Amino acid sequence: MSEKGKSLKLEKWTKKDIASVITTYVINAIVFALLFVGMFVLNATAEGKTAYSALSNLIAIFDFAVIMVLILAVTAVYFWFADRDFFRRASNSQMLFLIWELGAAICFLSGKFINPYVRPVAFVAILTLFLSSDTGKAIFSNFIFTTILFAYDAFAGTFASFPDYSNTEYSIVFFVAMGLFSGIIAIYCIKELYSRLKILLVSFLISLPALICIILPMVEFSGGVLVLNLISGALSGPFAAAAFIILLPVFEGVFKKITCFKLSELTDHKAKLIRKLITQAPGTFNHSIIVSNIAEACATAIGEDALLTRTCAYYHDIGKLRRPEFFKENQADGVNPHNDLTPELSANIIKSHTQDGYVFALKNGLPKEIADICLQHHGTMPILFFYDKAKKFTDGEVSLANYCYAGPKPQSKIAAIIMIADSAEAAVRSLKTRTRDSVSVAVKKIVSERMQLGQFDECELTLKEINLIIHTVINSLSGVYHDRIKYPKVSLEGLDIDEETSHNEQ
Ligand SMILES: [Fe+2]
Ligand SMILES: [Fe+2]
Repeated sequence: MSEKGKSLKLEKWTKKDIASVITTYVINAIVFALLFVGMFVLNATAEGKTAYSALSNLIAIFDFAVIMVLILAVTAVYFWFADRDFFRRASNSQMLFLIWELGAAICFLSGKFINPYVRPVAFVAILTLFLSSDTGKAIFSNFIFTTILFAYDAFAGTFASFPDYSNTEYSIVFFVAMGLFSGIIAIYCIKELYSRLKILLVSFLISLPALICIILPMVEFSGGVLVLNLISGALSGPFAAAAFIILLPVFEGVFKKITCFKLSELTDHKAKLIRKLITQAPGTFNHSIIVSNIAEACATAIGEDALLTRTCAYYHDIGKLRRPEFFKENQADGVNPHNDLTPELSANIIKSHTQDGYVFALKNGLPKEIADICLQHHGTMPILFFYDKAKKFTDGEVSLANYCYAGPKPQSKIAAIIMIADSAEAAVRSLKTRTRDSVSVAVKKIVSERMQLGQFDECELTLKEINLIIHTVINSLSGVYHDRIKYPKVSLEGLDIDEETSHNEQ
């Protein structure tokens, strides 16, 4: 799980942003209150009281309200200082509130109707971790959710409805500790796991705090209850992992979040658009694979999200699917349709693959981040080949603007990385001799031309990062396109074999 790639550029808050964030907080305060009333009434009626008599307990209601106002205030202050850009988008706050509300409801119902120790408290922390790609936010979310759960447990009469727990003052401390520690264990154990099966297997570790709390001698259970509690406690981790696995795709879809699971699905060669590239534009597919390897190495070098960069590189040229035969890498039969077109028309066809890719990506449900790369990976660079050709065909002026990509210039470091990796790969592929020196000259020229044309002016790439990218691209391309040694012809018992055809791994 990568936490890299956070922009340094802080967007300005508009009145609309402020209004939508405040509205989200108010609406969710009401939802939390309604959940409280629901739990309060359910617990009271389970004890044989009426709903009216439960709700007349004004002290409990007031105490809960004070704690919830404090929780919402702490949440707002935390995000204001920790990640103002995340906070500016009301949908992010809504996503967190929904995770906490669902968490509270699931924990309440499973605790009440199955066993208090089976409550899957940790799924809130894991869900936040994967949806925000940020350990800090996941730890904060875990802390806030445990506090919310404490407020519900303490003031909605939850413990009164748990047999064996109502008489001990330690119970509530145990449940808070269990929630906190199981969430933290979940975050650090599952952080680097990209397989749902591995998550399920590792999830038993999340159950440890529950098991420790059960076997501590602070609460004495009768034999049967102890066994039941131990089984429930052991299942709390897998239950949390299962809740996470079921809810993650729902949250990914509703809040348009890209997780490592989504990216893994998109880079699978069985993914719909990748299959199309393989069958309809094999040259473009091979080019995209090489670009993805280079771009991923560059992203790692400068601390950007490597998996997201790799996925964006896979899809950066999908716009070529509209007319694959017009792009050199797909002209395996040697037929170049541009020979029959005017330079202006040729340039328009080449230019349009960025816009086509953007539209195609969104139409096929790819995340906006990937569609943006399709649009930005050539920035506003000129297509000099057809510009020169046009100048040769006319005595008049040829406008360079007609031969430039429409842009925009790369708006993110990932877009800039893909721009460099893409053009460097194409340039080095066309070199006659590919020594490390010639690759180095070509890559430095590519980057310097783009810098002179201001292509990196809108993406916050620093000079230090540009140098790291140059170094990484040279290393990667020297590895991909190294000159092969000249194989000797050998004679084997009368057979004349060109060694190159029998072994080509050099
Ligand atoms: Fe392209
Ligand atoms: Fe490309």
